[in-house]
Amino acid sequence: MKITSIILAAGQGTRMKSDLPKVLHPVCGKPMVWHALQAARVVTEETPVMIIGHGADQVREAIGDAAHYVVQAERLGTGHAVQQAESTLKGGTDLVLVSSADMPLLRGETFAEMIRLQKENDGPMTILTIVADDPRGFGRIVRDEDGDVKAIVEEAQATDAEKAIRELNVGAYCFDAEWLWEALARIPLSPKGEYYLTDTVGLAVEAGLRVKALTLDDMVEAIGINSRIHLSEAEAGMRSRVNRGHMSRGITLIDPASTYIGMDVEIGQDTVIQPNTFLRGETIIGAGCEIGPNTIITDCKIGERCEILSSVLEKAVLEDDVDMGPFARLRKGAYLSKGVHMGNFGEVKDSHLGEGVKVGHFSYIGNTTIGAETNIGAGTITCNYDGKNKHHTEIGEAVFIGSDTMLVAPLVIGDRARTGAGSVVTKNIKEDTLVVGMPARAIRKLKE
Ligand code: UD1
Ligand code: CA
Repeated sequence: MKITSIILAAGQGTRMKSDLPKVLHPVCGKPMVWHALQAARVVTEETPVMIIGHGADQVREAIGDAAHYVVQAERLGTGHAVQQAESTLKGGTDLVLVSSADMPLLRGETFAEMIRLQKENDGPMTILTIVADDPRGFGRIVRDEDGDVKAIVEEAQATDAEKAIRELNVGAYCFDAEWLWEALARIPLSPKGEYYLTDTVGLAVEAGLRVKALTLDDMVEAIGINSRIHLSEAEAGMRSRVNRGHMSRGITLIDPASTYIGMDVEIGQDTVIQPNTFLRGETIIGAGCEIGPNTIITDCKIGERCEILSSVLEKAVLEDDVDMGPFARLRKGAYLSKGVHMGNFGEVKDSHLGEGVKVGHFSYIGNTTIGAETNIGAGTITCNYDGKNKHHTEIGEAVFIGSDTMLVAPLVIGDRARTGAGSVVTKNIKEDTLVVGMPARAIRKLKE
């Protein structure tokens, strides 16, 4: 049975007070609408149809070919919005799942359950409801004496008795496709001048057809975003869901409330995440690491048993058993091999550090290759930029760079060479050679 998802994303979201279309505001680092697409993907391999309008070009650009787009030129209501997909989908799908781009916490598993109910339903639709004390302006679910769904009444049209109903319309629906297209054409114009998708319930009931309902028990799933306050609630709800997922996979979060983990992050078992830590983007962390507190890691790949304290890492790769911090900074292209030690106030960019390299204190390493077991003394700077171009520094294995050495690139330093404290190195250093001074000159051969 073919299932296609329609995601409503044309609304303006006036209450967000933003230049960014509402559905592009991020929740845990991903646009709201990305979450809606993920949930749809759980139940169908068909590309979802997204109804766009406000900020259409921006939405298209952000989401790319993950959706087919249909533009709703005039926002005439949710029923009208769904109708825009008719010419694209008619005859091509058996069931239609309708959801909103501004409900990022709705789970694919919930959609799957709705679809299961609809497949058993001899009537044309299944809706999603929740029982809650705070109605949040949602439509009310009217049921008859037998408990069957009779109508959804929008708050603006509800009588006082209807307003008191605590069962609410979450705003996700599973329809028999052919019935839906025919019903959309019959939706009456509401007093507000809109065509409400919710009126399809009344149309089904009038025709003696059964409307089924799935009732959610987790209010968090039904968080819809109309304002920045709702956005923060959704962020907290999604963060908690993501964090619980990691904990259930064997990762310790000392303080989940101050741990921010992006949707694409992977973490190995027995890793401990200390408070106030941000793991973002395409980050993968191996098993048995200790991360944080006070650490921000973005788009990094980190091996096993690494310890990272109060540091900021971006687009870097760490092999196993690296320890760093406090106050280390890795920028793009930093590659730290197994067992590298990086102490406080070091910065590494576009550089490859071999196994066991030590950069203990106050250093800048840029555009540099460092061989295994080399020690970089406190205050060492690779002077890689001459104001116009970046130059490469190559440092061999088991080299000892003395404290406060300036390495003026381009430069090649041979294996086991040493520099004296305060050296300014402007010329290549041969292997097994000690240099001192400013600019540093060779004074003796260490070994024949
Ligand atoms: C809708 C439901 C309400 C439900 C609530 C849950 C209707 C009439 N009411 O109300 O019963 O409790 O959602 O959140 O459906 N949209 C379009 N084009 C339009 C109008 C809306 O694409 O012409 C999109 C919006 O961008 C949004 C979604 O449809 O993603 C829902 O529209 P919205 O105006 O937020 O409906 P609600 O008043 O919240
Ligand atoms: Ca809404």
